[in-house]
Amino acid sequence: EKGGFDHFMLKEIYEQPRSIKDCMRGRIYANEGKVQLGGIKDYTEKLKNADRIIIIACGTSWHAGLVGEYLIEEYARVPVEVEYASEFRYRNPIISEKDIVVAISQSGETADTMAAIELAKEKGATIFGICNVVGSSIPRITHAGVYTHAGPEIGVASTKAFTAQVSVLTLMALYIAQQRGTINQAEMVNMLTELDEIPSLVEKCLKTDEKIRVISEKLKDSTNCLFLGRGSGFPVALEGALKLKEISYIHAEGYPAAEMKHGPIALIDEDMPVIFIATKNSSYEKVISNIQEVKARKGKVIAIVTEGDKEVKKMADYIIEIPDTNEAYLPLLATIPLQLLAYNIAVMRGCNVDQPRNLAKSVTVE
Ligand code: M6R
Repeated sequence: EKGGFDHFMLKEIYEQPRSIKDCMRGRIYANEGKVQLGGIKDYTEKLKNADRIIIIACGTSWHAGLVGEYLIEEYARVPVEVEYASEFRYRNPIISEKDIVVAISQSGETADTMAAIELAKEKGATIFGICNVVGSSIPRITHAGVYTHAGPEIGVASTKAFTAQVSVLTLMALYIAQQRGTINQAEMVNMLTELDEIPSLVEKCLKTDEKIRVISEKLKDSTNCLFLGRGSGFPVALEGALKLKEISYIHAEGYPAAEMKHGPIALIDEDMPVIFIATKNSSYEKVISNIQEVKARKGKVIAIVTEGDKEVKKMADYIIEIPDTNEAYLPLLATIPLQLLAYNIAVMRGCNVDQPRNLAKSVTVE
């Protein structure tokens, strides 16, 4: 049932070109510049007039929510807040009938997310779900929603569910943008044409596996690890750190690269590996200066870069090349090598990758 792979996690990482395609099937009409989201179609007016979108989730799903925030604010120009469901539910949040709450959950059973939904519902908000497990509890208590269609995810560490959640949020952002008139038709056609290419670019990202194994060998005995990124590279950094800590038990932190100088920089020495999301995009030059700051303190730099990159290559100890794409889609690609990195390190450390200690696949207790 692991399809020839040693672990479910690895199988699920490798399924991503297919799962992303499944998630987008029937929802993208690139030539017409059209996105179709049957599940939320009846709420189009509500989306057009929403004052605010609040995303609630836990763990990896919360990271997908942060990516969603970048996309929705950038393209649809609606203010977005992303909240941990566990905090939201206990802090008497301000919610009105004009708010749309989007709850993200792979399992559809997370107790904190369910309680947050009930609270928002009582206050009159419209609730959408983005879930993977069909027929689970969350889709039953939301007003509408979109399934991620990633297929069953068995590994406790979420991988293909994350990229499917990000895919759905991308489609939502573009759909809302189109409805609100913040994107024109030509841009829409371009964006969707590029989005159509993502599954094959993810396939290319999987080819980094061999190189990542070499890097993993060097990092496997580290006690700490820092992940840094800017813009939508920041949630990618958080996700990379979570993957590493949950399955390899190496202490890892994700930070916005610019926050390094406000604290974490104190930790940097020759024993501290720092993983940068340093692809060619609007924050490239800024990330380069952050890399210099780490190198000046003898930190070990591992950088995810755009294919053909020359500048970062000169400074980094190791680079991992991924294909170039629209900046909006960076998280869908840059996450793949970080999943592979966590996986390989965990295997090398002899950890139980699919069932890490103290963790459950769905957290049905508060
Ligand atoms: O099923 P959910 O998406 O609601 O689960 C949320 C988190 O428990 C989950 O993402 C957790 O953080 C994973 N173990 C991360 O890999």
